[in-house]
Amino acid sequence: MEKLALEGGKKLQGSVKVSGFKNAVLPIMAATVLCGDRCVIENVPMIKDVKILAEILKALGATAEFTADGILEIDTKNLTNREAPHEFAKKLRASYYLLGVTIGRFGEANVSYPGGCNIGTRPIDQHIKGFEALGCDVSIEHGVIKCRTEKLEGTKIYLDVESIGATINIMLGAVFADGQTIIENSAKEPHVVDTANFLNAMGADIKGAGTDVIRINGVEKLHGCTYSVIPDQIEAGTYMIAAAATGGDVLIQDVIPKHLESVTAKLREMGVVVEEFDDAVRVKVETDLKGINVKTLPYPGFPTDLQQPLSTLLAVTKGTSIVTESIFESRFKYVDELKKMGAMIKVDGKTSVISGVDALDGTTISVTDLRAGAACIVAGLVAKGTTKIEDIYHIERGYDRIVEKLRGLGASIECIDE
Ligand code: UD1
Repeated sequence: MEKLALEGGKKLQGSVKVSGFKNAVLPIMAATVLCGDRCVIENVPMIKDVKILAEILKALGATAEFTADGILEIDTKNLTNREAPHEFAKKLRASYYLLGVTIGRFGEANVSYPGGCNIGTRPIDQHIKGFEALGCDVSIEHGVIKCRTEKLEGTKIYLDVESIGATINIMLGAVFADGQTIIENSAKEPHVVDTANFLNAMGADIKGAGTDVIRINGVEKLHGCTYSVIPDQIEAGTYMIAAAATGGDVLIQDVIPKHLESVTAKLREMGVVVEEFDDAVRVKVETDLKGINVKTLPYPGFPTDLQQPLSTLLAVTKGTSIVTESIFESRFKYVDELKKMGAMIKVDGKTSVISGVDALDGTTISVTDLRAGAACIVAGLVAKGTTKIEDIYHIERGYDRIVEKLRGLGASIECIDE
């Protein structure tokens, strides 16, 4: 079984380049189904979720090929199959985007319930509400979501929760709908904007992405295009946190600093020095850090996907910190792993109280979900002695070449087979 082995205590130094955003490239790859043409997607991260979605597209009849590092060409002209294979769909959350795109292209969708991280109940009622409002009959049979419609009609949809997945999925489903579709209380995350920009580059007419009202004017046809995915704000935030936790000095390149504002603000509140440049941030530690309180919120609030690695940093920071998780109900499973290393963290419902300790001790821990993986790696980087991390397939789903990148910053980390 493959594991990661880390020798902790090395300050991260130097520079690291951030890859394309996992949560943007996945809906963009799915959106190529709508155009029935050839698209070239640039800045694609080499991660498992991308590879699995490429396999799903191929199973539908598309061609999907990496022509160079980070460049993925997809041609969806000859889609022969309309059903996403269950064994692939259940492996990732983003397979739910196949609903929106096959409804848009064929007026029909058959997609298994999506997989992804086990971080609490993850309903898709808002996606379904949106498809029904657009004119689809939706049923769930043996774990497969089935949607059918003769005609997609533009309409007004108010989301009860600011769901990223539902916002993007309804946007995908509404591209060819008759008239105008308005999504109210839509999610404002950068990947919602990136997906809308990609759709517009293919000829869609979408306005307002990035605000809480998105207007989609239905068009007749889309065409292929070349598009570069935005940088991964969660990967960037993870390196910022890792740099701070090890007391290092790291330049994180190829980022959009605006997307990192909440992380920058919270690190500065702890006493970390963060310098912002046009497309990079430098993170360095010059004094003792102090504990803070953090609450996860939709963008531009502090992202739930960074709650876990930040908690590791807080676990080795003087003072008491309170972390409130307001997006997902069960995103503290990794805490038990950190406790094995000596962290003092008490979880009560959606809140954790962290009493900073001087050091963590290396031991064997396991990864419970993707971002918990980042929390474990940060723990291994700061711990005394050797940390072995099991179940690393979660990490491979979303972090592009993380071992290579961390080694480039001076970390002692390797993949071992035991
Ligand atoms: C996406 C991301 C995930 C990230 C999360 C929050 C992908 C593939 N996954 O997940 O990495 O952690 O955003 O930033 O991009 N909800 C409902 N009904 C719905 C949909 C959502 O009640 O129909 C709730 C969820 O349970 C959650 C909240 O809305 O409490 C936000 O969920 P959402 O933004 O949809 O997250 P995901 O798409 O699951």
